[in-house]
Amino acid sequence: MDAESYKREAAAGALDFVRPGMRLGLGTGSTARHFVELLGERVRNGLDVVAVATSEATQADAERYGIPLTTLDETPELDLTVDGADEIAPDLSLIKGGGGALLREKIVAAASARMVVIADASKFVSMLGRYPLPIEVVPFGLAATRRAVEAAAAATGCAGPAILRRNRDGHAFVTDGGHWILDASLERIADPRSLAERLAAVPGVVEHGLFIGLAHAAVLAGPDGRRIVEPS
Ligand code: A5P
Repeated sequence: MDAESYKREAAAGALDFVRPGMRLGLGTGSTARHFVELLGERVRNGLDVVAVATSEATQADAERYGIPLTTLDETPELDLTVDGADEIAPDLSLIKGGGGALLREKIVAAASARMVVIADASKFVSMLGRYPLPIEVVPFGLAATRRAVEAAAAATGCAGPAILRRNRDGHAFVTDGGHWILDASLERIADPRSLAERLAAVPGVVEHGLFIGLAHAAVLAGPDGRRIVEPS
């Protein structure tokens, strides 16, 4: 099986967490897209759920697959969010935002009683940081914000450049919220909680891709099959 098959296998495993009547959060990215498609099949077969999408892309997918949609304004409390991740640590702290949807993803996850992460097993790591940490920032004052972000990282012992994410055409990547993203190459994040606190305190940082204490389980699929990980 290839990585895409593992993603779909993990997504299929998350269906076991879904119950009739649930209010769901739908994540963003290639793994979450598999989940949305599989959920759509269940809905067509009569499953009664409503869902909030974490991005314009997921909203479009959910509409295409016939999943009834709501908003956090109409439905501010959700039962379950299913989303992908870029890295997953044994305590289920996460790096997210590779697809640029981290702000809405975190709002939706925080509004959910439970969050289940789905991923191919290669995303499970002993320590976060190899994957560059996405940090959503306002365009105003970018150079100053970048310096403050790099200083915050250095203060927690992980130094590395924070690079503005760009599209292929060279223009800055713009999030659904109209912000930009810095990708911080930190290699090893020994103290994610401390880094998260420092980043959240930087003016100009809208949100960062460290998800701590939000995930309740991860469904991982790889060459050894599918398994469920709960926080260590
Ligand atoms: C989107 O902003 C991200 O948080 C995704 O959940 C993450 O990048 C995983 O994406 P894939 O499932 O495409 O690897």
